[in-house]
Amino acid sequence: MRIRQHANPTRTYYETFRGVRPRFEPGRPIEVEVGCADAQFLFERAAQDPSRHYVGLEIRDELVDWVNKKAAATGAPVVAVFCHAQKHLAEVFAPASVARVYVNFPDPWFKRRHAERRMVDDELVTGLASRLAPGADVFMQTDVWDLALAGLEAFEGRDVWYANQAGPWTFWRAGNPFGVRSWREQNAEETGLPIWRMRFTRTAAP
Ligand SMILES: C[S@@+](CC[C@H](N)C(=O)[O-])C[C@H]1O[C@@H](n2cnc3c(N)ncnc32)[C@H](O)[C@@H]1O
Repeated sequence: MRIRQHANPTRTYYETFRGVRPRFEPGRPIEVEVGCADAQFLFERAAQDPSRHYVGLEIRDELVDWVNKKAAATGAPVVAVFCHAQKHLAEVFAPASVARVYVNFPDPWFKRRHAERRMVDDELVTGLASRLAPGADVFMQTDVWDLALAGLEAFEGRDVWYANQAGPWTFWRAGNPFGVRSWREQNAEETGLPIWRMRFTRTAAP
């Protein structure tokens, strides 16, 4: 399968929601990976605990199709949704309905001149605060220092809605606590790259 290396999220094409809304069973917790690519992380989470819904948000539609075919073939409770994560959270999730969000390696726009294409920004952090349930977890990790700082700034700048589990303006030093890895995380660990991690608790809604 041919997969574009990048999709430019500033294109007006991505402003309209063109994805398929998943159906969620009431009472079944929802975990979300923003920018899931092949959703390795979610498939591994689903194998650990199949009682939950695992939703990957992804702007490259070829990957969305690939993930959904794999989910259908394996019966895993994983679904990918084609969307622009910052713009379409409210199309996919009811308010305060999400139990946990993962933001794993939200590259590729790490150059400063491409900052407007980045995924973790004020819009995403605000949108997530309204979809996350009180007490829900946010986990972010990256091997790009600039993106780690931008992520910390985005969540910490909204400290009325999120509490940093490591303490204010502090990275999470205890590693990935979930026992599963995304493809980028696996790659970074195998090649010895540093990884900066953050964990927040959603305390209040906007
Ligand atoms: C570097 S990949 C990381 C994939 C996976 N999370 C991992 O750690 O292996 C980042 C993914 O985010 C997706 N992405 C970037 N901007 C996005 C946006 N605004 N909405 C949804 N997905 C986005 C990209 O298409 C890409 O697949």
